[in-house]
Amino acid sequence: MARSISIFGLGYVGSVSATCLASKGNYVLGVDVNTAKVKAMDSGRSPIIEEGMGDILFESHKSCRLHATTDAVAAVHKTEISFICVGTPSQRNGKLDLSGVERVCEDIGQALRTKKSFHWVVLRSTVLPGTTDRLVRPMLERASGKQAGKDFAVCYNPEFLREGTAVNDFFHPPFTILGAHDLSDLAPLRDLYSWANSTTFETSVATAEMVKYVCNAFHAVKVGFANEVGSLAKQFGVDAEDVTKIFTSDKTLNISPAYLSPGFAFGGSCLPKDLRALIHCAKEHDLRVPLLESILPSNVEHIERVVETVLRTGKRKIGMLGLSFKAGTDDLRESPLVYLVKRLLGEGCHIQVWDKNVLLGRLVGSNRQFIDEFIPHIGMLLRENLQEVLDTAEVVLVGTRAVDREALLHSTRPEQTIIDLVNLEKSRRPIGRATYEGVCW
Ligand SMILES: NC(=O)c1ccc[n+]([C@@H]2O[C@H](COP(=O)([O-])OP(=O)(O)OC[C@H]3O[C@@H](n4cnc5c(N)ncnc54)[C@H](O)[C@@H]3O)[C@@H](O)[C@H]2O)c1
Repeated sequence: MARSISIFGLGYVGSVSATCLASKGNYVLGVDVNTAKVKAMDSGRSPIIEEGMGDILFESHKSCRLHATTDAVAAVHKTEISFICVGTPSQRNGKLDLSGVERVCEDIGQALRTKKSFHWVVLRSTVLPGTTDRLVRPMLERASGKQAGKDFAVCYNPEFLREGTAVNDFFHPPFTILGAHDLSDLAPLRDLYSWANSTTFETSVATAEMVKYVCNAFHAVKVGFANEVGSLAKQFGVDAEDVTKIFTSDKTLNISPAYLSPGFAFGGSCLPKDLRALIHCAKEHDLRVPLLESILPSNVEHIERVVETVLRTGKRKIGMLGLSFKAGTDDLRESPLVYLVKRLLGEGCHIQVWDKNVLLGRLVGSNRQFIDEFIPHIGMLLRENLQEVLDTAEVVLVGTRAVDREALLHSTRPEQTIIDLVNLEKSRRPIGRATYEGVCW
């Protein structure tokens, strides 16, 4: 079903959205404070340079489906949906400049004052989580004298196009994300994107806002990572393209969701050691690799957040479930849980440790030697009986998934705090039986 849409802001996102939505049969009215851009679009010319825009825009304009104006009030009155696509640039200190969004909210709100029918306001500009609820919605309500959810809907729909390939990206998005408080508000947007082949996620406004930032941050990390490892390869006299080709061919561990779930710090006998060696080698070649150098400090910071979370409870009797660097092994080398126990001992906590795979009586070989030589004080905290640890602890740190579900669900008490470091499945979390907190979820 064709819709009538006003698009505020005719920059890259706004003019591509306007042009492409008009080409899908919708009636689109572009709005901008820049008269040159409005004139261009309203006479069938693209306000931006973008592959493929000119022809599609011209066709839509010729078929009277695409116009532009500087009159915000008329645009809101003539359409049922308003997209906000104005810029949200950085201020000098990095803070987001939301003055453009504020100005448009004021304009749309004023127009809504005199509009009789229901209206949808859809923010498309990139804004930090909470902005739609804390700024856009109240500004619209104040300026219109009306109520969001009753007289008009407020939704968030981030854009993922890339300049240079924007038209193609618009028609082939990686996904479509629709955020709203009341998912029934999304009905016209479902229609609008019904042609898209990708998955549509309907979610909360804040999740939709956050996903956009997570995507951009990850893309930036990928570019920085690729450039640092490429530079290292070049220094080592290794073929960087060959390395990349092989590295990216692994869709199990490398280009995959592996390692991307929020959880606890990494450790073990490989990752920290190999990162350190690579960074040291880079230094020997006078090569600065700040992204790689930041990873171990980031890992330590994550452990410190857990220490702070524990100390904030005011409780000092700690039960630590898990000690090895991950479930299914007794390897304690560079285990972040060992580091965590050391930190908490230093803060005056009393700790008992249970780990199914690290029972002192059964340990032999290098692991026994590791405990005896490097962490004898932690070895002494090991308990064979999980129940004993759960009975004594005021705070339980779940550092392994290898814990019996029933024990966790039925042996925890209301006065206990459970801090989950491993992102237990929801059905295994003792929510309601004790105070439950995830380390980063
Ligand atoms: N450029 C991209 O590749 C891209 C991709 C995805 C998301 N985004 C996000 O989308 C938003 C828009 O980005 P852009 O690159 O299209 O911005 P842009 O700077 O190219 O365009 C913004 C437009 O908004 C207009 N404008 C400002 N105030 C206005 C007002 N009160 N009323 C009407 N028009 C007004 C400006 O005149 C300008 O034409 C930003 O939040 C950006 O982060 C950008």
